[in-house]
Amino acid sequence: MNRHTVVFEPSGKKGDVQEGATLLEAAHELGDDIESVCGGKGVCGKCSVKIDEGLLASHGIEWSGQVLSPPADEEAELLSRRGLSSEYRLACQARVLGDVAVFVPEASRRSRQLIRKSTIERTIPVRPAIRKYYLELSPPTLSDVTADYERLITELRRSSGLEEVIIDYAVLKDLSHILRSADWKVTLTVWKGREIVRVEPGYVDGSYGLAVDIGTTTVAGYLCDLQTGEVLATDGMLNPQMAYGEDVISRISHTMKEPDGLAGLNRAIVDGIGELVVSITGQLDLTPGDISEMTVVGNTAMHHIFLNLDPVCLAKSPFAPTVSGSLDVKARELGLTLEQSTNVHVLPVEAGFVGADNVGVLIAEEPYNQEEMVLIIDIGTNGELVMGSRDRLLCASCATGPAFEGATIEFGMRAAPGAIERVRIDRESLEVQFKVIGSDEWNTVSSSVKAKGICGSGVIEAVAEMVKAGIIEKGGRFSRKLASSRLITAEDGPAFIIAWANETALGQDITVSIEDVRAVQLAKGAMYAGARILMDRLGITGLDKIILAGAFGSYVSKEHALAIGLFPQCAPEKVYSVGNAAGEGARLALVSVDKRREAEQIARKVEYVELTVEPRFHEYFIEALSFPVPSVLSKP
Ligand code: FES
Repeated sequence: MNRHTVVFEPSGKKGDVQEGATLLEAAHELGDDIESVCGGKGVCGKCSVKIDEGLLASHGIEWSGQVLSPPADEEAELLSRRGLSSEYRLACQARVLGDVAVFVPEASRRSRQLIRKSTIERTIPVRPAIRKYYLELSPPTLSDVTADYERLITELRRSSGLEEVIIDYAVLKDLSHILRSADWKVTLTVWKGREIVRVEPGYVDGSYGLAVDIGTTTVAGYLCDLQTGEVLATDGMLNPQMAYGEDVISRISHTMKEPDGLAGLNRAIVDGIGELVVSITGQLDLTPGDISEMTVVGNTAMHHIFLNLDPVCLAKSPFAPTVSGSLDVKARELGLTLEQSTNVHVLPVEAGFVGADNVGVLIAEEPYNQEEMVLIIDIGTNGELVMGSRDRLLCASCATGPAFEGATIEFGMRAAPGAIERVRIDRESLEVQFKVIGSDEWNTVSSSVKAKGICGSGVIEAVAEMVKAGIIEKGGRFSRKLASSRLITAEDGPAFIIAWANETALGQDITVSIEDVRAVQLAKGAMYAGARILMDRLGITGLDKIILAGAFGSYVSKEHALAIGLFPQCAPEKVYSVGNAAGEGARLALVSVDKRREAEQIARKVEYVELTVEPRFHEYFIEALSFPVPSVLSKP
C-alpha cells in the first residue's frame, strides 16, 4: 500500500505513514501528542487540527489535491458546533490519502504549556493527575455475560492502553446503574492513570480542580480548568477557626485544653472549605460534584488540623510533625462535601514550623533553579524565610509575633476597610498624610471611609516615616528635641498622633506609641537576625534579590520596609512582591504532577535552620533592633 508524508506543526514531527491511517494514528506513530478524550470515536472534538497547504510548501512538498478522506456529516456538524471553519478536521476521522501538513492548535495538544510570569518567566507543562476517557461499551448478551466492571476495564485498556487500573469502591457501587441508564456510553475520570474515581453518563466535557491555601487568618481558593491550567475563579474567606484564637499557638492550646478541641477546629475548617467550594463553583454555574481533584497548602498547624492530626507535637520541642511527606486522601475521609471518591492532595511540609504553604511558595518561585542568591520572605504571624540558589537552600522560621498583622499594636487591625495603610510625615512640620483601605483619597475630614486603626503595612510606614522625620531615634526612643501637638505623653509613655479624632471612626486619636515601636523592633529584629544567620550559613554578604510573598508582602512599601531594616539591604528594584505565592504553588501542584514531584524533592532538600539555637542569633537580633538611616523613602 502507498505511504504518504505527514508533517505536524508546531512540533515539526514528520514521517511517512500508511495510506488510510487516521491523522490521530499518524500522530501517535510519529510521536506528536494530540488530545483524544473519546479514544477516536469522533465525539469529543478534542483532536481538532487545521490542514494547512502553506505549511506543506514550507517543507518542500507539493500539494496534490485530495490529501484526506472527506468529512462525514457528523464530523462537519461537530466542527461547526465548535465554531471551526472547513480548514479544520477531526484527526481521529480524517484518513491520509496524500502528503499533508497539519497544524495542531494549543487546545488540541495533550501536553499544554502554562506560561507563568513571576520574578522570572517560565513555562510549565499542564499535566494534571486526572484525565477523562469517553467509552462506548457493547451491552451484555446471553452469549457475553462479562461483568460490568471487567467489561469497562477491558474497553478502557483497549482504547487507552492503561493497564493496571482499579476502581474506587463508592464508584463501583453505582456502576451498574450508570452504565444501563446511560446506554453503555460513559465518561470516566481516571486518577494518575491507575484509579477510576468517577463514571458519568454520556460524554462529559471539562474538568475542574480546586487549589486551597489554608492560612491562619484567611483561606483562599482557586478554581482551575485542569485542561488548560487557567484559574477560572477565585474566592476567599476568613478562616473560621479564628473564633478559637487568632494565632497558631492559641489554636494548638485549644486542642490541648478542650476534650473535643481538635474535632471542633477540624470541623470549622472542613465546613469552611465546604462553603468556599459552593461559592466558588457557583461563580461558574458548576456544583461541588464538578471538582475532580483538590490540592491543599497551609502552615504545619493548619495542615495537621485540616487532616485531623493532633498538632500538639508541633508545640513541643523538638517540634517533629506527624507526617512530612505529601498525602493523597479521599474527600470522604476528610468529611469534605465533594464527590466521595475525589482525591485531595496535600503538599509536603518541611519542618515543624515551615509548612506546606512554604513548599507552595518554593515551587511557585523556584529559587532552586536560579543562579541568583534569593531571599524569600513570607510574613504572617510567623516570618518564614528561604534563602539560597540552585546550589543550596536554607529555610527558617522566625517568631515575629503578630505585629505585622496589626495585632499587638494599640490601634492595630487587619488589612480591612478603614485600616490606615499608607502614612507620610512632613519632615519640617511633622504634619501627617495617611490613606485608609477602601478610599483613594489621602486623609480628608469629609472622607466616607474613616480610619478605624492601622494595619501591618501602615504600621511599617508610620514607623519608617517617624524615623525619617527624627521623631524616633536610632535606638527606638522618641526624640525629646522636637515640638509638635502630635507628640503626646500617654499613660504608657510617649506617642505620636497619626489621625486626629475627627478623622477617625473611633472618635479618638489614632496613635503610634513607644510600645508599638518596640513591637515593630522585636519583629523586624527577629526577621533581620534570621536572614543574617542564613547568610552566614551560606557564606554570603549580600543578596541579589528579595521576594516578598503573602498578602502583607503585596501591600508593604518596600522602600519603607528597607528603611526600617526589616530585611538585609538590597537594591529596591530587586525587591519583588509576588502576592499569594503559597496559593500559586497549590494551583501549580493541581495542574501539574511534575510540580508535585518537585515539591516532594525540594521539601526534602531544603535545609531547616533552627534559629533559636544559633549562637549569633542574639547578637544579630540586638544589632537589628536599631533603625538604619533611611535613604530611599518616596513622597506621596
Ligand atoms: Fe474525540 Fe477525535 S478523539 S473526536
